[in-house]
Amino acid sequence: MPLTPMTELLARAAAGNYAVGYFEAWDVDSLEAVIGAAEAEAAPVIVGFGGAMAAGTWLDAGGVEVLAGIGLALASRSRVPTALLFNEAHTLAQARRAVDAGFNAVMLDTSAWSWDDAIADVTRLVEYAHERGASVEAELGRLPDAVAGGVDDSQASLTDPQQAAEFAQRTGIDCLAVSVGNVHLLRDGLAPVDMAHLEAIRACVPLPLVMHGGTSFPPDEVPRAIAAGVGKFNVGTVLKGEFLNGVRRSVTSWPADVDVHDVLGSHKGTDMLAEGKARMQSRVQRLIRLYRGGGSR
Ligand code: 13P
Repeated sequence: MPLTPMTELLARAAAGNYAVGYFEAWDVDSLEAVIGAAEAEAAPVIVGFGGAMAAGTWLDAGGVEVLAGIGLALASRSRVPTALLFNEAHTLAQARRAVDAGFNAVMLDTSAWSWDDAIADVTRLVEYAHERGASVEAELGRLPDAVAGGVDDSQASLTDPQQAAEFAQRTGIDCLAVSVGNVHLLRDGLAPVDMAHLEAIRACVPLPLVMHGGTSFPPDEVPRAIAAGVGKFNVGTVLKGEFLNGVRRSVTSWPADVDVHDVLGSHKGTDMLAEGKARMQSRVQRLIRLYRGGGSR
C-alpha cells in the first residue's frame, strides 16, 4: 500500500492508546525484517534509515537516494500502513534531499545546535517538507551518549518544558523528540528516565512526543510514557545486536568448503543474513507488543 503520513500514524496511535515503533534499518534485509514483523503483528510501523551512523560523505554522494529507493520499494508492497522516515539528518540540505528522494517523514538532528540555529533551520525544513506532504520531527534537549562502561552525560540536557512549547509553536513541527534521561545507543542496562519530567513536558506540549534510545528504555515505564503522550519509540542498537548475533552464529557454523552461492545473496535459508534477519524480526515483534501496536492497523 502507499505510504501513510507519519502524522496520521501518530494520531491513530494517540487515539488508540498505543505507540508506533520506528525500528531503524540499514539495508534491504534489515528493512524486510522490520516489515515482516509489522505484518506478522498486523501493526502500523515507521520504517526507515538513520543519518547518525552512516558516513555523511556516503549519504551526500547519493546514499540518501539509494536508501529512499529501498524504502519506497519495500514499503509500497507492505500489507500494513507504513511511514518512511529519514532519521537524524546531519544538515538541512540532507533533510531536504531526503524529502525530494521520497521519504515522507524526516528528522533533523539539531540537538547540538544553538537555539537560534535550530529554530531557523527546523522552521525552513517544516516549510519545505509540508509543501511536499512530508512530516517533520525535531528534538529539543540533548540525550546522554553511551560510552564504554557506562553513560556520558557531560553534554546532555533535559528538555525544558516551556522552551519545548515555544520551539514547537515557532517551528510548526509535527512531533517532538525529548530528553528525559533516555540514553542513545546503550547496549546494557536501562536508562534512568524521569517520568515526572516527561509528564511536565506533556503538560506544555500538545504534540506527539518521541522517545529516542528505545533499546534501553525501561519496559515497565512504557504504559506511563504512552499515557504521557509518547506516540513513537525509536529503536536501533538492540536490533543490530540481534542481527549480528545471528550472522555470527551462521558464519561460525559453516564448513570450510561452504558454497559461496548458498551463503551470499541467495535469500534462501542458507543465506549468511537469514538467521540475523529472523532474530531481528522476532525482537521487533516483541517490541510491537510492548508498545501495544499489534492488531491495530
Ligand atoms: P537506540 O539505538 O538506543 O535504541 O536508539 C535508537 C534511536 O534513538 C534512533 O533514533
